[in-house]
Amino acid sequence: MKDILDAIQSRTDTASGSSAATAADFAALALPDSYRAVTVHKDEAEMFAGLESRDKDPRKSLHVEDVPVPELGPGEALVAVMASSVNYNSVWTSIFEPVSTFSFLERYGRLSELTKRHDLPYHAIGSDLAGVVLRTGPGVNAWQPGDEVVAHCLSVELESSDGHNDTMLDPEQRIWGFETNFGGLAEIALVKSNQLMPKPGHLSWEEAAAPGLVNSTAYRQLVSRNGAGMKQGDNVLIWGASGGLGSYATQFALAGGANPICVVSSEQKADICRRMGAEAIIDRSADGYRFWKDEHHQDPREWKRFGKRIRELTGGEDVDIVFEHPGRETFGASVYVTRKGGTIVTCASTSGYTHEYDNRYLWMSLKRIIGSHFANYREAWEANRLIAKGKIHPTLSKVYSLDDTGQAAYDVHRNLHQGKVGVLALAPAEGLGVRDPELREKHIGSINLFRDTPAAQTAPAGRNV
Ligand SMILES: NC(=O)c1ccc[n+]([C@@H]2O[C@H](COP(=O)([O-])OP(=O)(O)OC[C@H]3O[C@@H](n4cnc5c(N)ncnc54)[C@H](OP(=O)(O)O)[C@@H]3O)[C@@H](O)[C@H]2O)c1
Repeated sequence: MKDILDAIQSRTDTASGSSAATAADFAALALPDSYRAVTVHKDEAEMFAGLESRDKDPRKSLHVEDVPVPELGPGEALVAVMASSVNYNSVWTSIFEPVSTFSFLERYGRLSELTKRHDLPYHAIGSDLAGVVLRTGPGVNAWQPGDEVVAHCLSVELESSDGHNDTMLDPEQRIWGFETNFGGLAEIALVKSNQLMPKPGHLSWEEAAAPGLVNSTAYRQLVSRNGAGMKQGDNVLIWGASGGLGSYATQFALAGGANPICVVSSEQKADICRRMGAEAIIDRSADGYRFWKDEHHQDPREWKRFGKRIRELTGGEDVDIVFEHPGRETFGASVYVTRKGGTIVTCASTSGYTHEYDNRYLWMSLKRIIGSHFANYREAWEANRLIAKGKIHPTLSKVYSLDDTGQAAYDVHRNLHQGKVGVLALAPAEGLGVRDPELREKHIGSINLFRDTPAAQTAPAGRNV
């Protein structure tokens, strides 16, 4: 790994005399036999049997270990991962819910000779990365060794016509690092080359790795015509507005001339939303909403109380769009508070998959429920382009080492985090990899907005690997 890091380092040492590594230099680097990866083990899939979700501890199930470098196939790339991030799917994998991800790997393994590689007794996880291309497989022309990249997490085969208008509709659509092996929480990752996108030059490795999955998902869900197709002036109710998805949804709403109504659970999170520029904020803990009276019955009076609070914040208007993901706990309220003709767009069910809502409020008021999942190639590219232009910013709050990924996933599982949490893989320190200090300087306040330590506020812009 040292040779790989030296080659990346040489890029920024040219001023001091050494010459920058070229694509040929990167291609000539010997690949190691193995690399360190965050994994779960197939023979531990039952380790939490009988426990409540909350009590399943990712620190017990996530391992950091040496695994062999996978064989490189046509259309694929091996990437030296400088940094990655923890997504909620890392939590799902680590607690083996709703199913063990080994069932995905087994299914993928049955697809072809090549995909058999993915069906292993361990699962190297992670659906984000920022790093440097090490090798490309046959048929890859758009990328070469040495390219600095981020990767989106859509893996498709595109052998069926179904996915050719919208790659998310491919029958063999998978989330890389969740439904495939060799993910980004590792020193080396295997991706399909069409997952690669240029690394935004003004960001450090860990900042560049943070937005990927959630930013693209929020883009499709809220902005794209495949999702809610948000327009200027829309009132957008955003659950978990300072969380992974919500922190990007809030930015898209603000940047797109909409009016976010941010729901959060603490004053600290409300403050973050204010600092992002939101004005309408609901602290669901302080207001004490109880949408469910007991396990089986909801309380429409609480939906009304919630709707009244929204109207107080919007000057009497209801919401055009609800950005839904908590699921069972909030869905009845979400359908109720949406305006006539409005849209509830959902991409998840964190609190439970079986939603209940009063259908009279849907059909009589001509509302629509739209399902949304990650983003197609184009949407992921557009979402990354907005990051690269400094229009949307990473919401990185804290950075962990690869060894501490279990703790990072624990924090996300317990909702102790803000925005995104990052993980350093090969990057020896935070703040490295910045290629465009001028653009960085212009946006430094927004880039650092979620950082929770005073030291992080002054993360160096000039040090570079
Ligand atoms: N389909 C897809 O492509 C896709 C992509 C990304 C994520 N997801 C899923 O979306 C969900 C959220 O992901 P994320 O990255 O945003 O997670 P996150 O960083 O944990 O943020 C979610 C936020 O939602 C709020 N929340 C959680 N439970 C809630 C409840 N019962 N009622 C109201 N608010 C609640 C919390 O904010 P407050 O405590 O501040 O209210 C929490 O911080 C996860 O289930 C994830 O797997 C799906």
